[in-house]
Amino acid sequence: MAEPLETDYLVIGSGIAGLNFALLAAEHGRVVVVTKKLASDTNTNWAQGGVAAVLARDDSFEQHVQDTLTAGDGLCDREVVELCVRQGPASVERLLQLGVRLDRDATGALDLGREGAHTHHRVVHWEDVTGREIQRALVAAVRTHANITVLEEHLAIDLLSSAHYGKDAGCFGAFVLDRTSGQVKTITARATVLASGGTGKVFVYTSNPDVATGDGVAMAYRIGAACGDLEFVQFHPTVLYHPQARNFLISEALRGEGGVLRLVTGETFMENYHPMKSLASRDIVARAIDNELKKSGADCVLLDMTHLDPDFVRGRFPNIYESCLKLGIDMTKVGIPVVPAAHYMCGGVQTDTHGATTIPGLYAIGEVAFTGLHGANRLASNSLLEGMVYSERAAAAVRGESARRPARMQAWSAGDATDSNDAIVVSLNWDEIRRFMWAYVSIVRTDKRLERARHRIENVRDEIRQYYLDFNVTSDLIELRNVALVAELVIRSAMQRKESRGLHYTLDYLNKQPEARHSRISLASGGPRGK
Ligand code: SIN
Repeated sequence: MAEPLETDYLVIGSGIAGLNFALLAAEHGRVVVVTKKLASDTNTNWAQGGVAAVLARDDSFEQHVQDTLTAGDGLCDREVVELCVRQGPASVERLLQLGVRLDRDATGALDLGREGAHTHHRVVHWEDVTGREIQRALVAAVRTHANITVLEEHLAIDLLSSAHYGKDAGCFGAFVLDRTSGQVKTITARATVLASGGTGKVFVYTSNPDVATGDGVAMAYRIGAACGDLEFVQFHPTVLYHPQARNFLISEALRGEGGVLRLVTGETFMENYHPMKSLASRDIVARAIDNELKKSGADCVLLDMTHLDPDFVRGRFPNIYESCLKLGIDMTKVGIPVVPAAHYMCGGVQTDTHGATTIPGLYAIGEVAFTGLHGANRLASNSLLEGMVYSERAAAAVRGESARRPARMQAWSAGDATDSNDAIVVSLNWDEIRRFMWAYVSIVRTDKRLERARHRIENVRDEIRQYYLDFNVTSDLIELRNVALVAELVIRSAMQRKESRGLHYTLDYLNKQPEARHSRISLASGGPRGK
């Protein structure tokens, strides 16, 4: 057996939460970051909007707290909301110190954008590619840090835990596939930090990059971690609708700057749904668009910017402008065709206020985590903020972790597995899951649709389980196994909720229950099999 690689802190994922954690934890220990493609292949890199923080004179912490609570529809944890909101200005300051460039106005103050359901301008940004700019600065900083090793093209397969080695060991690392050599490595650590991002690829239409396959939720669930609120999948109302564009987000900041949603016939419609019209919260706008598309039979709606100054539009949204132009859409002259798509997982692996999960030694930060900040619907640009705040809190907490690695380690064993000559099974199942999840478990749900989805996922997971036992692991198979498990967890969480609240909307229970409750799911509480 190859010797396990030992470190103090193992970070799985390289977005804002993972890399900021790595930089802070490297002050007191050695850090290994594993990331399944390149270090910059993350959801963070694709974030367009920015970071929400109270910086304007006419804004207040209480107002940001209130906006977050209103969007969260009764399910935010006020303590968590307060601590994130109050940490906002310091998080922005840290980004600046790390060399992140942020747009400034004519007076030299940070330029503050506005997004849906925010009552004030409070989103710091770098043009319309804020995530890319943050990712650039963080990657540059970790690459030159003596205490940080970044392993690219390394995909975590499973966490090492008591489940493998007897009671009370907690989590002490992971088995990781080196995608280049095909070798499975064992990495042990005092603390293992999931910063693996979201689950968008569970649905066929998504704004997320290909890496968003729910690996962190799946791995944590398999070793018994409690998860929660997984039914709250946020559908972004405006993703570009074009045959040659996949997953291209049209930022909410466009509506923040005055963009108006219209039907393809030119009429506005949002006034029929909410007083904030095109700037209502995402759940309301996505549902309104879904409804209008179903009523009219049209393929998309339009986001109209043509009434705004063309120079302003080009200057404020250079990336979106150029990307649309390449596809023949000049957004200063015509409406941008848009549809809703899966964007963000509000639930995830349950944590305390330092990112600690219910498994000793295992932390979860960023989109993979269920901290209580987002409740039933995340407020725009609160996610990069949460990534900054929780990476800092987790980096402080892991100092207290001591080694948990057992004396005798088992090597990765492939058993009797052979190389597959039937990889079509992987691609067919992948396609099937993502299509029925969209059809039955997306913006508008019913008991019947959820029941159909549950039936299908159980069959598909049986097939994947057998395939996983018979054949050597590949990255496609590992991701499929994770997507399938997360899909089942989303379906079962949605089945628990007998009401419509926030992002969970069901025609069978249109009203809210009097008391707002989180949904929980874990192996111990009778959730589906993890394997
Ligand atoms: C956007 O730019 O619309 C996305 C921002 C976010 O998801 O917070």
